[in-house]
Amino acid sequence: MKHILFISLAALAITAYGCGEPKLKTASVDRVLKAMTLEEKVHLVIGTGMAGFSGDNAAVGATKSIVPGAAGTTYPIERLGIPSIVLADGPAGLRIDPTREGDENTYYCTHFPIGTLLASTWNQELVESVGQAMGEEVHEYGADVYLAPALNIHRHPLNGRNFEYYSEDPVLAGKTAAAYVRGVQKNDVGTSVKHFAYNNQETNRTGNNAIISPRAQREIYLKGFEITVKEADPWTIMSSYNKINGTYTSQSYDLLTTVLRDEWGFKGLVMTDWFGGDDGAQQIAAGNDMLQPGTDKQYEQIMEALKDGSLTEAQLDVCVKRVLELVKRSPNVKGYAYSNKPDLEGHAAVTRKSALEGMVLLENNGVLPLKEVKNVAVFGCTSYDFIAGGTGSGNVNRAYTVSLLDGLKNAGFNVDDSQKGAVLKHIADKEAAFRASLGNDSFAVFFPAPRPSEFIPSPVQLAASAKANDVAIITFGRNSGEFFDRSAADFELSAKERELLDKVAAAFHTQGKKVVVVLNIGGVIETASWKSIPDAVLLAWQAGQEGGNSVTDILSGIESPSGKLPMTFPVNLMDAASSANFPIDADAGVYFLDRRKDIGQKDVDQTDYAEGIYVGYRWFDKQDLAVSYPFGYGLSYTSFEYSHPSVQNDGSTVTAKVTVKNIGSFEGKESVQLYASAPAGKLDKPVKELKAYAKTASLKPGESQELTLCFPVSGLASFDEEASAWVVDEGTYSFLFGASSRDIRCTATAEIAGSEMQVNRVLLKE
Ligand code: BGC
Repeated sequence: MKHILFISLAALAITAYGCGEPKLKTASVDRVLKAMTLEEKVHLVIGTGMAGFSGDNAAVGATKSIVPGAAGTTYPIERLGIPSIVLADGPAGLRIDPTREGDENTYYCTHFPIGTLLASTWNQELVESVGQAMGEEVHEYGADVYLAPALNIHRHPLNGRNFEYYSEDPVLAGKTAAAYVRGVQKNDVGTSVKHFAYNNQETNRTGNNAIISPRAQREIYLKGFEITVKEADPWTIMSSYNKINGTYTSQSYDLLTTVLRDEWGFKGLVMTDWFGGDDGAQQIAAGNDMLQPGTDKQYEQIMEALKDGSLTEAQLDVCVKRVLELVKRSPNVKGYAYSNKPDLEGHAAVTRKSALEGMVLLENNGVLPLKEVKNVAVFGCTSYDFIAGGTGSGNVNRAYTVSLLDGLKNAGFNVDDSQKGAVLKHIADKEAAFRASLGNDSFAVFFPAPRPSEFIPSPVQLAASAKANDVAIITFGRNSGEFFDRSAADFELSAKERELLDKVAAAFHTQGKKVVVVLNIGGVIETASWKSIPDAVLLAWQAGQEGGNSVTDILSGIESPSGKLPMTFPVNLMDAASSANFPIDADAGVYFLDRRKDIGQKDVDQTDYAEGIYVGYRWFDKQDLAVSYPFGYGLSYTSFEYSHPSVQNDGSTVTAKVTVKNIGSFEGKESVQLYASAPAGKLDKPVKELKAYAKTASLKPGESQELTLCFPVSGLASFDEEASAWVVDEGTYSFLFGASSRDIRCTATAEIAGSEMQVNRVLLKE
């Protein structure tokens, strides 16, 4: 008996620790690392390639055989039990192929609202629940790491990918991203927080050199990432394409090791953006642990550097170890039996409800919520063809998109849809003509078609429509996506859109009927010149696949809007400080990345972030410039009174309280913004900066709630470049409780002690 026990224990020891090959599932990462050959190590830090782009020897095709349509996979090493794990986009939902060859099943994913809408909810709990639903789809469709969230700062209104991003403010962006990561990762899958960092334009994004002061980097462009790392512990981070002060971010030791790991304590893995950077060996040396999707050239670069000693095996091992740690915690290595049947029905309800909370009511002269309205006339091509989200890697292969027309019909409104066939044909024809004009361009598939020009009904038709209907709704739409920045023309209403608005408004107003404009857009547009013409303007953003239902829920008053703007809507495009240094094209037509050579090299090769920390409301406040809608703005069907403001400082945390009362006649939620205004000190400071925010529960008329808003005292620090330190100036600070950045309802003050925290002198301008 003793013998048998001894033999079995010995056998166990051999499998776990002994002469057999260690397997990643059971053996320690260190043991697996020790058992790897140099070649295997180099392969492991490079992905499995992408057909047509990675070179002849790359193991392309691996991704396709596991989860078709996913963005990439890690390198498998069978003898050590290291499987390929699957990396798939985000951020508005999982992006995989909806159908598979020889398979009758479908693999649609839920298209949730775009990032900007989620930030407009100012509701971290809600964002977390959306993240949780997304993560369930990632898990149940067999992916391991979700390439989201995306949280670059909205530096300029025309950045083509702003729709994926959250805000012009780093605290709102960081808190939203942290909530999202917590939600996704509850499913035991990872996230990849992207694009780290300074990826604020699409034009020449793979070569652009962003010239940014250390202060602006730390206070604006890195802050959101820092919050996310510290509050949500993402499994991975994706470095960006661009350079920072002369060095590719994916090759920057300062960024990926000194700041991210040594200063912030990040413990996960860093991967490149797809094909980012130009030197695989430098990426490994910088702490960019995995290169995606991977190329033969990178393999050679790393091998060469190991041979000539410019990269050591010890440096390589650091990255290999992180890849092993990532694979070891993945559902795949644990053999998770995914169902391929996520709860799509449940998630349709999640997206419909979450979209409601991020829509922003910009204008309302009492027409909304619609009362005693039965017959509705809809105008604008987009009313028939709602835009669920943006294009490129942030697109989601959804089963359907509910248009405004269908949303209204679903809710029982009578909508004249006699034009539907003609409008849909008009849109399809435009799209086909656009595709044909692109010829054989291999990137054509990525080009978002411009919105079709608007139909203008004849005066007779308009008069008849105004007579037959109780209200008119016009939708204006805007597409945008990865690879492109928007043009200045895209910022303005087109002549046809303006004509449609004028004519519909004239016809309906003549008969005492009201007009509502719905904006189905992914980024900021001009509003100042026309916003007083309609009776209400609802900013619906791109609200995911249930968009038309969500808009209808707001219009009909199922819920009051409670979204607020996560960015400023300027009067003119050129009012934004960054307009002086952004690649603005008057009317770009369609240009793909580097093809926008016609605008010259300024802001293409190199972009000078000359405005420093004065991004968004920090700039408009400093200049005391009029805006069309300020940061944090949004109306409700009810109104709120703020009272009993107080602020306490215990030396480490600032705790602010305020009571919010619903003093109107409609149930609703209110988000309160806490801004700090610092005493005069050594550094030039913004007039005020967002430090915390909170949203009430749904308050019935007459109901009140006390909100508590906390943040660390260190959050009051500014970055002093001379001292290379975060400095909190001593003195009396004002804390402003705002319904928006320009609607401060009450104030409290607190004494704050001075402090200084030295950090590394890195990321300097050349
Ligand atoms: C995008 C990333 C995306 C990756 C994989 C890149 O072009 O910039 O956001 O995750 O492709 O699809």
